[in-house]
Amino acid sequence: MQKLPKHIAIIMDGNGRWAEQKKLPRFKGHEEGARRVRAITEECADIGIKQLTLYALSTENMLKRPKIEKDFLMELLKLYLRKERGTFMKNGIIFKTIGRIWELPQDVQAEINKLKKTTSANRKMVLCLALNYSGRAEIVDAVNGILARAKTGKTAAKVTEKELSRYFYDPKMPEPDLLIRTGGELRISNFLLWQVAYTELWVTPTLWPDFTVGTLYEAMQEYSKRHRRFGGL
Ligand code: FPP
Repeated sequence: MQKLPKHIAIIMDGNGRWAEQKKLPRFKGHEEGARRVRAITEECADIGIKQLTLYALSTENMLKRPKIEKDFLMELLKLYLRKERGTFMKNGIIFKTIGRIWELPQDVQAEINKLKKTTSANRKMVLCLALNYSGRAEIVDAVNGILARAKTGKTAAKVTEKELSRYFYDPKMPEPDLLIRTGGELRISNFLLWQVAYTELWVTPTLWPDFTVGTLYEAMQEYSKRHRRFGGL
């Protein structure tokens, strides 16, 4: 492969459909989805990807799914954060999050903070989970951050792109080079709206629980053939 993306972002869609196709309850799809997260994370760390950002829970998921499914996703997330500590340490992965983390249940926040602390000295790759995340909310939260700071008289007189991005959930996050969406829908669904301005998009009908290392390579192969112009010629 001629060039590897440094930062891959993934909209992991299709867990529910995967389960329904197999006449299984939806939560089985999420469980299998969580297993795919581990496999893909390890492969990315192995081949030298610098950051993997996964859309695990949108704000809309949190608002619009039945309580029983939301509760299940919270339990699954807690289990993941506890169980995968070894995977993070073995592979040198730093754990980060984006989203309105402060609105999540206290026990989930505690697990998130613990894993962030444990993995903070790792160096190989960043795994960032978007949790209770919405791209519009991130921009609104950044604007409110600027307004709050303006009250202290410490902001610049004019807002620039660079200044605004300093108030995002992770100001150091590099923009994704490649955005993969599984499950076949041709939408961004409120993910990283600002950051994907020049990102290469790749959509596959494969449902997330069926997404393998092979599918990942297909996406990266396609990426390596694209010529990124960033608005130039
Ligand atoms: C989309 O499938 C997926 C989600 C809403 C949750 C994503 C969660 C996981 C992959 C597992 C948990 C992740 C971690 C990191 C523990 P969907 O339910 O929208 O599928 P559908 O479109 O077929 O209904």
